[in-house]
Amino acid sequence: MRDQAAKLRASVQGAGSGRTVAIASGKGGVGKSNFALNFSLALCKLGKSVLLIDLDLGMGNIEILLGKSADYSFIDMIQKRLDFEEIVESGPQGLDFIAAGTGMNNLFQMDDAGFVHFQAEFERAQLKYDYVFLDMGAGLTEESAAFILAADESIVVTTTEPTSMMDAYALIKHIKQRHAKLPMHLLVNRAADRREGQDTAARMQEVVQTFLQAKINLLGILPEDKQVTRSVKLQKPFIDQKDSKAAAAIRQLAASYQKPGPDTAAKESTSFIGRLKDIWLKGGTRNGENPRFSR
Ligand SMILES: Nc1ncnc2c1ncn2[C@@H]1O[C@H](COP(=O)(O)OP(=O)(O)O)[C@@H](O)[C@H]1O
Ligand SMILES: [Mg+2]
Repeated sequence: MRDQAAKLRASVQGAGSGRTVAIASGKGGVGKSNFALNFSLALCKLGKSVLLIDLDLGMGNIEILLGKSADYSFIDMIQKRLDFEEIVESGPQGLDFIAAGTGMNNLFQMDDAGFVHFQAEFERAQLKYDYVFLDMGAGLTEESAAFILAADESIVVTTTEPTSMMDAYALIKHIKQRHAKLPMHLLVNRAADRREGQDTAARMQEVVQTFLQAKINLLGILPEDKQVTRSVKLQKPFIDQKDSKAAAAIRQLAASYQKPGPDTAAKESTSFIGRLKDIWLKGGTRNGENPRFSR
């Protein structure tokens, strides 16, 4: 059940625009899920309605980060043809989330009937929220590329380590080569200090400009913060920790994170599902293959 405030917002505002935002990374373990969850909660606190979908199939951990266990998952929706209302769970602050589930490692394993069901349910869900965040698994797979390309925008998370930056660049390169104008944001996580975060961001922006003639917007920098690890162990989101520097940074990012006005949304010719269907039908990779791309 959604909380009363969210219900009221939905009825007052009518349908939400359901801006779909993919949160992705090259390397795993860079803080995507923690960012996705705590950023979603920060937006909820600002009165936005948010649905967070854990798409790290087989390895999802939003439930663990929240200390909750979900009755049903995204995979259940596809395999058991459940309605999206049946699989949505309530988190704190009126956040709605969908657990990833197990039993399918790759969405390209979905058969056509499963995809039709997913499409209908996703479109219905999208209408109810201001934002739909997709917490992606790590790595550059055809599946994650399809979701990033279909999303309205994506947030690529990197740490300040060169290995993580290299893998983030490989991901950005692949996406920009397929869709140069797709809005992409960069989030630098675990910066030792502001300067290190800014250096990382500047280096990333420079290589993207030099080698891809493209731009990537800096969404923000999150500091290395012991409170994050502590909160993960306690299975409580860190956004509520008063002495957390990462929480303060996320609250600031959420306050300045604006979704575009209705004009911009109206100009977009197709929806997330429309674009995903295109990519899906054009072949990409089907039947469970899950290739990695070269750099
Ligand atoms: N800002 C941070 N400061 C300190 N540790 C962090 C920070 N962000 C992430 N971590 C650590 O990294 C681990 C992996 O984060 P997670 O969000 O699960 O990454 P991903 O989803 O990219 O695999 C967390 O369990 C936490 O210990
Ligand atoms: Mg994760």
